[in-house]
Amino acid sequence: INCNVSRERRHILEVLFNGLRRLEYRGYDSAGISIDADGDGGLTDLRGLAMPGFCPLVFREEGKIEKLVTSVYKEVNETDLDLDYSFMNHAGIAHTRWATHGPPSPRNGHPQSSGKGNEFLVVHNGIITNFMVLKETLLRHGFEFESDTDTEVIPKLAKFVHDSLMEENKAANGNGGKDIQFSQVVMEVMRQIEGAYALIFKSPHYPNELVACKCGSPLLLGVKEVGEAENRGVFAETELRLAKEGGKPKEFYFASDASAVVEHTKKVMVIEDNEVVHFRNGAVQIYKFEVGKARTASGGLPRPASIERALSILEMEVEQIKKGNYDHYMQKEIHEQPDSLTTTMRGRLIRGGGDKVKGVLLGGLKDHLKTIRRSRRILFIGCGTSYHAGLATRALVEELSGVPVTMELASDLLDRQGPIYREDTAFFVSQSGETADTLQALEYAKACGALCVGVTNTVGSAIARGTHCGVHINAGCEIGVASTKAYTSQIAAMTMMALALGEDTLSSRNRREAIIDDLFNLPNMVEEVLKLDSDMKVLAQELMDEQSLLVFGRGYNYATALEGALKVKEVALMHSEGILAGEMKHGPLALVDETLPIIVIATRDATCSKQQSVIQQLQARKGRLIVICSKGDANVMCPNGGCRVIEVPQLQDCLQPIINIVPFQLLAYHLTVLRGFNVDQPRNLAKSVTTS
Ligand code: G6P
Repeated sequence: INCNVSRERRHILEVLFNGLRRLEYRGYDSAGISIDADGDGGLTDLRGLAMPGFCPLVFREEGKIEKLVTSVYKEVNETDLDLDYSFMNHAGIAHTRWATHGPPSPRNGHPQSSGKGNEFLVVHNGIITNFMVLKETLLRHGFEFESDTDTEVIPKLAKFVHDSLMEENKAANGNGGKDIQFSQVVMEVMRQIEGAYALIFKSPHYPNELVACKCGSPLLLGVKEVGEAENRGVFAETELRLAKEGGKPKEFYFASDASAVVEHTKKVMVIEDNEVVHFRNGAVQIYKFEVGKARTASGGLPRPASIERALSILEMEVEQIKKGNYDHYMQKEIHEQPDSLTTTMRGRLIRGGGDKVKGVLLGGLKDHLKTIRRSRRILFIGCGTSYHAGLATRALVEELSGVPVTMELASDLLDRQGPIYREDTAFFVSQSGETADTLQALEYAKACGALCVGVTNTVGSAIARGTHCGVHINAGCEIGVASTKAYTSQIAAMTMMALALGEDTLSSRNRREAIIDDLFNLPNMVEEVLKLDSDMKVLAQELMDEQSLLVFGRGYNYATALEGALKVKEVALMHSEGILAGEMKHGPLALVDETLPIIVIATRDATCSKQQSVIQQLQARKGRLIVICSKGDANVMCPNGGCRVIEVPQLQDCLQPIINIVPFQLLAYHLTVLRGFNVDQPRNLAKSVTTS
């Protein structure tokens, strides 16, 4: 982040802290920051000359961001540190961590440092897979490691590379290595590290410069006040250069996702893999790092050409990332589902009438529908909730397209290296569009020659960009780690996809039209089911001290059982298992007694009578039942009484998973609050799992 707007020392700190607060949902084990302060850092360069008169300060704290904020301000106020230095531009970096290597602790937090003097500081999102080898080499060169992280090799490697290049240059030119640029050092580091990363480097050797680069993990650059260039939507390095006198002030923001920058600017550029962005003298320069390109014979690095990139405009509003009147993001996101579903469907449903045929319009898919219909097989690939959304729409896609659909958990597909063919169409379902396993499965399917379709909530995400075509679910930014509104929007989007795939089949026309009618009705029905909030709170009060909860579903609602159990498990930290009711007799029945709470989903559809019999069998074993059924069906489903009944509005069977999941979301939410756990940031979990 660069700032030359205000000379107030708090400004840059506040910008960084706010960015961290917005990103806290991505990681919350520890946090850290580095900014500059006036003063002699006591460093000398290889020529023995004193380093510029400022030093990077590094603060790291375990736990929440507010803890970091408090300790930084304490230090700044107590020591009266002068952050009000005389540079035109200020550059700072900050990070919030979700632990992969090493437990959460200040020493494992980022920025990680090259050692004494913090000559190179790095924040990192991702995993460096060859860090052990690099660490051994660096240890042999005398580096001492302080943390358990994979990241620490990066700043140390940067120092090693920097010092070696300076030596080489000095030997060759005798000019003390003036020509070694920060971005060259970073590119040499990139040449040696393997894995997934988005990195930002800071160094007192390069005052007020930052270098960011990425490979596999998300990174974007926000630009505020672009001046003339913004009208053309394209900028070159020269255009971004600050006018020396009287130029408009500019701020640049590097971040892992848009929520950290949207309150400052909506103009962003998604950084591509192997791009290196060098911020210097109030301007940015973008280089393409050429993988595998060797250093030149003279030992120097090849000088890559600066490239031009387009800026895009974020469609996100700041309000979307604020809690508003709600206590938690998860609660807000559950309650905004009537709106998020409306946005998912906006402009995509055709009501019919006149010369218009009732149908759906999915711009991102329309040129590929024929190919998909002709595929030998469709694969739904995802992780967690996104996998469940695929499962919820599997039957409808099979029904309307006639193509068999195989479900794949991304990690399992990769573990098995399951066969995928050119005649297959693979759908990649991912809220974030950045989940590492799903992304790797995408690369795998592409290499196998399949048509790859993305279903994501994040425009510009790696999956959105890496697929051949796709659908954005447009649910709006989802902050709560447990996915709620994205799930229902994924199902709505994939239902529309199924309708589009079936649109050339006359025999299914009535069915399709009935679904479309209900899609129009869907937001109102979700509004209706949300009225169960207080009932679900009462149920949560009854269940809050339980150890375990079983959820039985089948057909369209097998997915609801899995997703409902996942919600309870991940936020309320209560063991909960979703079970295919058809498998009940093959094991789960042994668990049934008078104490274990069991939720049975038995809304009206083709499997409803089977669920009725499941309820009877569970009652015969004195099971403690909670039955979710369609409005007016209480007596039919539980003729003998004795079970708690939750009635929900009825829509077309294939849309019922959207309605039926809502009571579970509410239950999980209230259970979590009552049990005193963190709703939005459940223990040990991350929103975007960008590491395998
Ligand atoms: C994490 C999140 C889940 C999410 C899953 C897949 O586990 O905590 O909420 O369902 O990743 O994420 P994606 O962004 O690919 O949908």
